[in-house]
Amino acid sequence: MSSSTASVDATNHDQERAWDGPEGSYWAAHHERFEDCLARYQPPFLAAAAIRPTDRVLDVGCGTGASTRDAARTARAGHALGVDLSSRMIDVARRLAARDGLANASFERADAQVHDFGAAAFDVVISRTGAMFFGRPEPAFANLHRSLTAGGRLVLLTWQPPGRQEWIDAFSRALAGRTPPTADPTRPGPFSLSDPDRVRTLLRGAGFTDVDLTPLVEPMTYGRTVSQAHDFLIGLFGWMLEGQDERRRAESIEALRGVLESHLTADGVRFGSATWLVTARRAQH
Ligand SMILES: C[S@@+](CC[C@H](N)C(=O)[O-])C[C@H]1O[C@@H](n2cnc3c(N)ncnc32)[C@H](O)[C@@H]1O
Repeated sequence: MSSSTASVDATNHDQERAWDGPEGSYWAAHHERFEDCLARYQPPFLAAAAIRPTDRVLDVGCGTGASTRDAARTARAGHALGVDLSSRMIDVARRLAARDGLANASFERADAQVHDFGAAAFDVVISRTGAMFFGRPEPAFANLHRSLTAGGRLVLLTWQPPGRQEWIDAFSRALAGRTPPTADPTRPGPFSLSDPDRVRTLLRGAGFTDVDLTPLVEPMTYGRTVSQAHDFLIGLFGWMLEGQDERRRAESIEALRGVLESHLTADGVRFGSATWLVTARRAQH
């Protein structure tokens, strides 16, 4: 599916511009760094998904497909489909699945909010930080609910509020000289599923039962060395330098280096983070 043929809901056009544009290109080019960042969350995420050998799995907002590949490895007699708005990330996902010989993994460029997956097409729907960007989350989660078989499972990894993320505070103070602006938790974005009450309301409204949120706290690794983390983060958060004159920019860039140096451990440059492991189910009947 090419970027011109995927049907994307009008409420997701801003996200499409970002993810099928510069943001997605950056992720595609640095997929190993991004995968490293979330690596500590992958074991509990996969354990909660409890994928069986014959399961059909949908990975929503699959990005470059790390979780789709993990799902396909376990669902060896089943199938894993990854969908994403970003053509570049889908290209990388296809390449990496082929590299790993995962013939039961496939990828489509699609807006999961409106894509017709077919009724009861999946046993498990997973999404690792990919389900927070829907322009209209109510119909989006109803669409995912419809795609699940009776008794099918939904497993999401979402961010807890920004105030619990050491990384955001540290990068914002260093690069922008201030604490991060408060994010509106009702707008599409990384923190739109950070409020447990909102998550429960949205998922129950979409038809899910047994909605449960488990807090997870793990370090995120931004690079093996300070200079690797610095390059990666300047590319990712360079927009925080906007409006600064040349001298101030140089100071901010150095301030970031100093913070990274103070967070260098034997396992790389690490900052604290907090997520929700969200599980829910389509009722048996
Ligand atoms: C933070 S990234 C996570 C990528 C991947 N799940 C991972 O863990 O590396 C969020 C992803 O969600 C995708 N996304 C956002 N809105 C989407 C939508 N409506 N339908 C499908 N994918 C979407 C983006 O293109 C992006 O790749």
